[in-house]
Amino acid sequence: MAIGAIASMVSVALAEIFGPDLGAPAGTLGHVTSVEIVIPRPDDWHVHLRDDEMLDAVVDHTARWFRHALVMPNLTPPVTSTAEAQAYRVRILDAASVGADTFVPQMTLYLTPTIDVDDLVAGWKDGVIGGVKFYPAGATTNSDAGGTNLLDFEATLATMVEFGIPLLVHAESTDPTLDIFDREAAFLEQQVGPLLAYMPELSVTVEHISTAAGIDLVNEFDQAYGSITPHHLSCDRSDILANGLRPELYCKPVINSAKNRRALVAAATSGNPKFFLGTDSAPHPLSQKEARVAKAGIFNAPYGLQVTAEVFYDCDALDQLAAFVSLNGAVRYGHEPSDDELRLVRNQSPVDDVVELITTAAGDQVRLFGVAEAGRWSVTAV
Ligand code: DOR
Ligand code: ZN
Repeated sequence: MAIGAIASMVSVALAEIFGPDLGAPAGTLGHVTSVEIVIPRPDDWHVHLRDDEMLDAVVDHTARWFRHALVMPNLTPPVTSTAEAQAYRVRILDAASVGADTFVPQMTLYLTPTIDVDDLVAGWKDGVIGGVKFYPAGATTNSDAGGTNLLDFEATLATMVEFGIPLLVHAESTDPTLDIFDREAAFLEQQVGPLLAYMPELSVTVEHISTAAGIDLVNEFDQAYGSITPHHLSCDRSDILANGLRPELYCKPVINSAKNRRALVAAATSGNPKFFLGTDSAPHPLSQKEARVAKAGIFNAPYGLQVTAEVFYDCDALDQLAAFVSLNGAVRYGHEPSDDELRLVRNQSPVDDVVELITTAAGDQVRLFGVAEAGRWSVTAV
């Protein structure tokens, strides 16, 4: 379906439910009495599905609503070959209750010195590999196998340019002398900007952008794109710290200031095709998340769509939701938008019996992010 047709379908769906207020004079628009929006099935362009019992427990939360899932390779050990990625893809599909016709795991390789470029190209040509992920070593969960300098991987990056393979970047400096809230901007300035200038044909996604600096950099370079998470759109750092410490909001890159959040929301709701949803859903057992040293990662696959819808609703920008969650990322990664549709309805009265924790077969509990928004929005397949 053409993107223009989808966009107009979305606005028609909105127009139909913005009815006249019963108390208003005929012909004038009054208050919104209910809100309903129909969007093409969205994609999640950044997700951690883990493995074993955790994979079993979480995968359907992604597969239920999302078509493509760009699956992160930071397992232990990391996914560094097409054979490993293919085997992981099979485990994911075996664990999911929907088939590959509805749910399409798109695999990634972890950028390490051991990557064999012929193997990478073969995996890319076969459609198994959707991108290569760079982690700065030590920046986040299972990033020990990552690198220090992007340009240390110049030979692999040159092959990626040749075949149009996207580079996915976790942009965060690990310099311990830098304030944690300045580390994304520092990494962008020191490494990503220079790389983009040096290799103008390299296609790069700056993942989980958390600052205005990330938005600006993506806008500056034609070859750059940016994914944004539901939690960076809906929260700022005061939410983590102001009313008791909330470890469930701890992630990398850390949720930043209100000013930075506003820049993310402006970009996401603008319709700019460079920006799209990547939930960065990253489940951790509660015992490791609400611990003395808490793991970074937010499990938002179940309710990330509802959280995102609420952000767009708050900005009066629901007409741009489909672009952000269903269209822009698909175009960036070379896919047609889905022909399937979801209906999102904002309930007048929030529902309060929303699931807050799930338990894996190994007995680990995982806390779900976005419970309040999940009570606000009902999602159904059309
Ligand atoms: O918060 C995060 N958690 N950020 C990442 O980059 C990795 C992720 C994880 O795997 O837990
Ligand atoms: Zn991630």
